[in-house]
Amino acid sequence: MRVGVLTGGGDCPGLNAVIRGVVRKGVQEYGFDFVGFRDGWRGPLENDTVRLDITAVRGILPRGGTILGSSRTNPLKIEGGIRRIKENLAKQEVEALVAIGGEDTLGVAGRLADEYGVPCVGVPKTIDNDLSATDYTFGFDTAVNIATEAIDRLHTTAESHMRVLVCEVMGRHAGWIALHSGLAGGANVILIPEQRFDVDRVCAWVTSRFKASYAPIVVVAEGATPRDGEMVLKDESLDSFGHVRLSGVGEWLAKEIERRTGKESRTTVLGHIQRGGTPTAFDRWLATRFGLHAVDCVHDGDFGKMVALRGTDIVRVPIAEATAKLKTVDPKLYEEAGVFFG
Ligand code: F6P
Repeated sequence: MRVGVLTGGGDCPGLNAVIRGVVRKGVQEYGFDFVGFRDGWRGPLENDTVRLDITAVRGILPRGGTILGSSRTNPLKIEGGIRRIKENLAKQEVEALVAIGGEDTLGVAGRLADEYGVPCVGVPKTIDNDLSATDYTFGFDTAVNIATEAIDRLHTTAESHMRVLVCEVMGRHAGWIALHSGLAGGANVILIPEQRFDVDRVCAWVTSRFKASYAPIVVVAEGATPRDGEMVLKDESLDSFGHVRLSGVGEWLAKEIERRTGKESRTTVLGHIQRGGTPTAFDRWLATRFGLHAVDCVHDGDFGKMVALRGTDIVRVPIAEATAKLKTVDPKLYEEAGVFFG
């Protein structure tokens, strides 16, 4: 049996570990052979393939990024997209497809499987950890570790100069990276997209921290917005690739703190550093297990399913269940982290 593999959406540490798990088990245990599709759904749309055998996956476990390339191409938004995908899969004699991606990539895989009879299996990925139906996505732990290390470093420079340091982390719609790295890095103020923040309250806390001789560290998710709505946080303009640009909350907040408290403030925007480089051991473990279980789904003919982590078990869930709704931060968890923000 010939199986296609693709990686779509923003890249994420651990993608190569999944690919390796799929190919190694598929070849060695089931006698499958594989074809890689380049750049997410663009590959099967344009019949753009890459060799994917045991040799191709050698040594890729610790490598960040994806050997298959990635894109945010959505064939459902392209005229004749589904037909072209079906034709190219037939040309390649591909009988099943493993799609590794986030909400968008998996949304396409789910619809292809459920509505158009394309045999797809999904593997969840995102550093944001905001996919439903799985306890964790790989890439998240790596991003949290990178952000935590950055916050640790910001503490020492903030203390040396007695400045406010605002650290902006990724998370457009969900504050998981901010919550976990903020707690792990001892940042007392953690601002997330799920709850609007009160700038006056942040400033009052900053002032109280200085009175107690501490340099305040504020962690803010890129999608967080203030309660008073004074700021245009989102530049809704599209870049030349048609992506919405979201930036600015960290910079804006530092300026606002400085203006309102008179305390010198700086911003660090971590950006894509959180997405690049080698995955942590946890992410390699999770991604490898996802890969092994995804190829089991193919072998069992269990299509339209996504592998997911529940506790320490890998289970299969309908892709549609995972993409129906984003997994946002539970208010109780956020409240728990707010205990230091007094
Ligand atoms: O979805 C993952 C993510 O890293 C978000 O946290 C972030 O907002 C976005 O991707 C950035 O996307 P791009 O790499 O296209 O700028």
